[in-house]
Amino acid sequence: MRLNFALIASIVFAVGLVSLAFTLYQISNERDKLNSELESRTVRIAEEFCINYYSYTQDSAREQIRYFADSISNQYQLSGIAVYFNPDSIVATNPSVFPYLENSLDYIAQSIIADTSIGNIVSVSGKEIYQYIKPLKQFNIPDRAIIFYSDAGYIDNIINGIWFRNFIRWFVQALFVSFITVLIIRWGIFSPINKIVGWIKAARIGNVEELSRKPPAKFLAPLHQEIVHIAKAMFEAKAIAEEEARLRSSAEAIWTPERLKIEMENLLQGKKMIVVSNREPYMHIHDGKNIKCIVPASGMITAMEPILKACGGLWIASGTGDADKETVGKNDKVQVPPDEPKYTLKRLWLAKEEEDHFYYGFSNEGLWPLCHIAHTRPTFRKEDWHYYKKVNDDFAKAVIEETADEEQPFILIQDYHFALLPELIKKEKPNAKVAIFWHIPWPNPESFGICPWQREILKGMLGADLIGFHTQYHCNHFLETVNNALESRVSWENFSVRMEGSTTYVKPFPISIAFTLKDYDNDNFSKVDPSQLLGEHGISARYMGVGVDRIDYTKGIIERFLAVERFLEKNPEYQGEFTFVQIGAPSRTLLKSYSDMVSTVEKEAERINWKFKAKNRKAILLLKRHHSHEEITPFYASANFCMVTSLHDGMNLVAKEFLAARNQNDGVLILSRFAGASRELHGAIIINPYDIEKSADAIKQALEMSAEEQEQRMKQMRQVIVKHNIYSWAADLLKTMATIQN
Ligand code: F6P
Repeated sequence: MRLNFALIASIVFAVGLVSLAFTLYQISNERDKLNSELESRTVRIAEEFCINYYSYTQDSAREQIRYFADSISNQYQLSGIAVYFNPDSIVATNPSVFPYLENSLDYIAQSIIADTSIGNIVSVSGKEIYQYIKPLKQFNIPDRAIIFYSDAGYIDNIINGIWFRNFIRWFVQALFVSFITVLIIRWGIFSPINKIVGWIKAARIGNVEELSRKPPAKFLAPLHQEIVHIAKAMFEAKAIAEEEARLRSSAEAIWTPERLKIEMENLLQGKKMIVVSNREPYMHIHDGKNIKCIVPASGMITAMEPILKACGGLWIASGTGDADKETVGKNDKVQVPPDEPKYTLKRLWLAKEEEDHFYYGFSNEGLWPLCHIAHTRPTFRKEDWHYYKKVNDDFAKAVIEETADEEQPFILIQDYHFALLPELIKKEKPNAKVAIFWHIPWPNPESFGICPWQREILKGMLGADLIGFHTQYHCNHFLETVNNALESRVSWENFSVRMEGSTTYVKPFPISIAFTLKDYDNDNFSKVDPSQLLGEHGISARYMGVGVDRIDYTKGIIERFLAVERFLEKNPEYQGEFTFVQIGAPSRTLLKSYSDMVSTVEKEAERINWKFKAKNRKAILLLKRHHSHEEITPFYASANFCMVTSLHDGMNLVAKEFLAARNQNDGVLILSRFAGASRELHGAIIINPYDIEKSADAIKQALEMSAEEQEQRMKQMRQVIVKHNIYSWAADLLKTMATIQN
């Protein structure tokens, strides 16, 4: 109301000021015009009078003069005419002229002396009179004058009329402009401002419904959109902050190595825990004259090693390093990690034909492609199957031997290499708690059904008390496969299989990495600028993407390269500015499908690099060798994004390791929807790696994502992995094992 009043007063004042200025200008012009019209009219009359004065009058004939002056005065409606001979001899047309004459005498004298006409307005008894004095000559000497009087009062009337009309105009204008202004303010400003205030309030209190309504006017749409974005960011930030606060306040809910150790002690009650896998966590290899110890590239090792480090125990695996035999002690055992021993590694030695048929053959040419469905045909050979059974048998014997004095050990079997092991162990040790965790996907029953020994494999696995997969989806596929292939009772209520008097539970345990609250808060990061890291490889580029994989046909490395190529084609401004670093560890290269893959990856990188070739520039930097975790971390920490494009993958821990390295909560994860991790990491840009066009767009989206959005997504994902870390995974699995009574 106050604002309205102030606005109206200002408008009235401003319009009034403008009106006044115009009126004054108009009046001044009008007065000048009227005055000059009156003057020229009087001058004309005076000229006419003078011409006729000498023709029609005689100087002495006063009556004649008066008569003549009278007729002129009447003809031109003058107020009067006077002829001045001297102060005592004045002829006037009428008596009303005499009061005027009293004012004129001085002017008359001036006019005669100067022999010049004088015209001006004088005020006589409140009346405005225009007097025009013209000197007359006798014998060429001015000695008399004629004075013409006109009423000038009409000029003031006209001026007053102008004042009046302009005042009315100002009043109407001010009223109209004020009215329109108030309307504009009300509908054009107050109403949208009220709307905006409403939206901001809704954003503040989290009223999503209010924000979801369409803006009342088109011009408010961009503002509305911005407020919705801000609100979204605020809600997410609030949710994240609340979640963080919750995590902090219930820090004991987060699993740590120390907590897992105590939990394990309670669960095991002094019993032994044995992990069995094919791949060993530490491999000794010759390096010139020296022996060095490396950690093989394996998601399974990334996950299991921290558990053993925290809780101790025995890990039985194949010794495949060329210096492994030289580094073991009694019973083929070695304490690891070498720098700070925490648990025991027992190595079993495979003969060459065992490695060929068990590892390369049945495991990696049979079961691996069978379970991954990545368009590489599985091959099943009788001989491979024979050695698969033999090696499983050998490992079973090793487990029995190691637990000879133990009634109820906890045996954690890893992966598809040992599908038969649970049944073999249980046969000898029915009270042992046995679990097998399948690190790779489980296909649908029809696909698995092509395996000639599917029944033996299923029976072998069902010897376990617990079978774990990464996702419920894989559990369901497994149960359907059992249902189709074996005489058994599958319960969909508690996801179990009852067969030959014992029950096996089939449950999802999404595997993770060693990432605790301490790691989450650790700002001791090793981030450097991508250009610096690339500079060390002779490349100058500002942006960097990273991919880290074993070179395997299931990882979608070629699809990833094609996406990089397409991205650079579609966005030429990034050519020379962007490099994709592919860290690729050669793997299983004795198999043709794998060695072919290595050369295809190399050729494809070469082809794409050639296409975008320029000095110091590379579209793809392929680092093809085994890299340690310490070597990979700077790439994880510095890249603008990490790309995981698996065509099929159980979990994929590269995705989680990348997140763990991002202490600044920046960077983007591009993640295949066919990796188990996509079920948990909703902050990633989820792609179908077969869709090259969309994957290329995802790269652009990642590179151009705002810092705020990166932070929101990254925090959300990092919180997922801190809550569901490998310690919580192990605790969950072991608690489930411990509660199963068979
Ligand atoms: O994560 C699945 C897995 O097959 C592990 O079992 C294995 O250690 C890893 O991939 C690497 O494969 P490989 O041991 O054959 O090199």
